Amino acid sequence: MTYEYVQLAIEDSVATLTLDRPEKRNAIIPQMADEVVDALDRVEGQVRVVVIEGAGSAFCAGMDLEKRFHEPRNEGPKAFFEAGRSTGAMFTTLYEYRHPTVAKIEGWTFGAGYCLQAVCDFAVATDESVFGLSEINFGIIPGGGAMWAAVNTMDRRTALYYTSTGKTFTGEEAANNGAITISVPETDFETEISELISSLVEKNPVALQFNTAVLERVRQMSFAEALDYERGKSEEMKYYQQDEWVDEGIEQFRDRKYKPGLESYEEQSK
Ligand code: ACO
Repeated sequence: MTYEYVQLAIEDSVATLTLDRPEKRNAIIPQMADEVVDALDRVEGQVRVVVIEGAGSAFCAGMDLEKRFHEPRNEGPKAFFEAGRSTGAMFTTLYEYRHPTVAKIEGWTFGAGYCLQAVCDFAVATDESVFGLSEINFGIIPGGGAMWAAVNTMDRRTALYYTSTGKTFTGEEAANNGAITISVPETDFETEISELISSLVEKNPVALQFNTAVLERVRQMSFAEALDYERGKSEEMKYYQQDEWVDEGIEQFRDRKYKPGLESYEEQSK
């Protein structure tokens, strides 16, 4: 597949996917979502981290309101349904992705764009970025994953406030209310992103993959269920890693080569 609405760059085991429709503030159309999924499939197993960013002044201004809602409606119910499928596939692929994903946010982030950053494992924004769950402003509710994204990032009251009022909030406010991971002034943005990526790249990739998946599952479990599940998954992970954690991680600690409370062990197979 050749890409028209996405740029893909790979450097030092990090893939950067740039949504490339700046003239429409990177509003999502089915072809863009299909390209994102194709690019994610292409780099899976080849890289350690995937970064998603937007070209120009927006991370992503949500669904393309004309192409998603207006044009397909004129074409009939089937076209209307189909227009939503690609975006759903993009969100699901990201949410279940094997490698850590980082949303790198500078600028506008609305509706489905909010969901896009929420299904990434980490989201780092500039303080000045602007977020919104604006669906109420045109008479509907957040759908297609955006309501889920709101309540699975912010607490109930905050999610209810922003989905009911459509009010915007800054990157700084987003970090304070749990909508994103970190927000920093624009001048510190690249450094913050690089530090996060370096920290992820140096971790055992299998452990990172299991960490995200297990964290997600145990959120839905009782403590007793989680205890059993975590034990089982830990054993599965150690088997998958062929006990690298003992052979290298614990062994390097025994040799006093590093302090696990402060840093990672040196992966020999890297
Ligand atoms: N869908 C379709 N086109 C869009 C979208 C969108 N979501 N967002 C921006 N555009 C288009 C504009 O219509 C405009 O097109 P034109 O040049 O053909 O007139 C172009 O992108 C630039 O937009 P401006 O409004 O001129 O840019 P500005 O920087 O002043 O404002 C902003 C940016 C605030 C993002 C504004 O474009 C906006 O409100 N967009 C809609 C945001 C939104 O509510 N998204 C829907 C969320 S709900 C959901 O995703 C289901």
